[in-house]
Amino acid sequence: MEDKTNEIIITPNHERAELILNNVGLSWDKIEGKRVLDIGSGESTLAQAGAHRDSTATISSVDVERNENWLKFPWGKRQTPVQADAEILPFKSGSFDYAIMHGSTGFLAIPEAVRVLRPGGEMRMWPMAGRMLEYWNVSYYLDKVKGFPRQEIVDLLENYDRQIEEADGWIPNKYVALRKEALDNLSQEQKLEVIDLMAKKHTEMLGLQFSYEVKAPDAYEPNALLIYKKES
Ligand SMILES: C[S@@+](CC[C@H](N)C(=O)[O-])C[C@H]1O[C@@H](n2cnc3c(N)ncnc32)[C@H](O)[C@@H]1O
Repeated sequence: MEDKTNEIIITPNHERAELILNNVGLSWDKIEGKRVLDIGSGESTLAQAGAHRDSTATISSVDVERNENWLKFPWGKRQTPVQADAEILPFKSGSFDYAIMHGSTGFLAIPEAVRVLRPGGEMRMWPMAGRMLEYWNVSYYLDKVKGFPRQEIVDLLENYDRQIEEADGWIPNKYVALRKEALDNLSQEQKLEVIDLMAKKHTEMLGLQFSYEVKAPDAYEPNALLIYKKES
């Protein structure tokens, strides 16, 4: 019987690799010859695709979960993915041209991503807002559209984050209708203002000057790519 195991392992998901690059605003051309760190890399799709297409980019992958495919992939001279927490990266400061986070880690991983960048290097995180966007849209709606007093908003949304955590990333039923109401009633300008406020909050909390790019400004729930360029 034909064994297809190897075939599956060594054929990377090129489509997903393209999606990752596109979402973080990069391309194979842009990363040619560059050192890229893929933080929260999962299967390390990007690094596998890079190896498969013989890219001159050096793509290092790190994920808190060890993935079975890491060791099976024929890396050759390329670096095998590393298991580590994004908040404590086992890389020297100034090692990378790009540190990307694609649908992987949160806010707290940013300082480490910035540390491992060379001067002039860029951190690119998609999506900027992750799950917190839901919270922000809802609280903005209750504040600006409904005019709820601040304390009422705080009481209503108390433990929102923890409840999502407990529901394994899903929005608790209690908030589903409220989230829909918020998205149905916020104008597109207001949704974009929420994103702008979130980016400003990132800057305020981390003391880093972020910029961002909204991907689909007309989307029902627009999101953004968060970018930090380290000073040269
Ligand atoms: C949805 S997957 C995305 C994988 C990959 N970036 C992609 O787009 O195909 C999220 C990944 O982030 C990883 N992750 C979450 N928190 C992390 C952390 N603190 N440090 C490192 N990796 C983390 C998870 O283990 C998981 O593999």
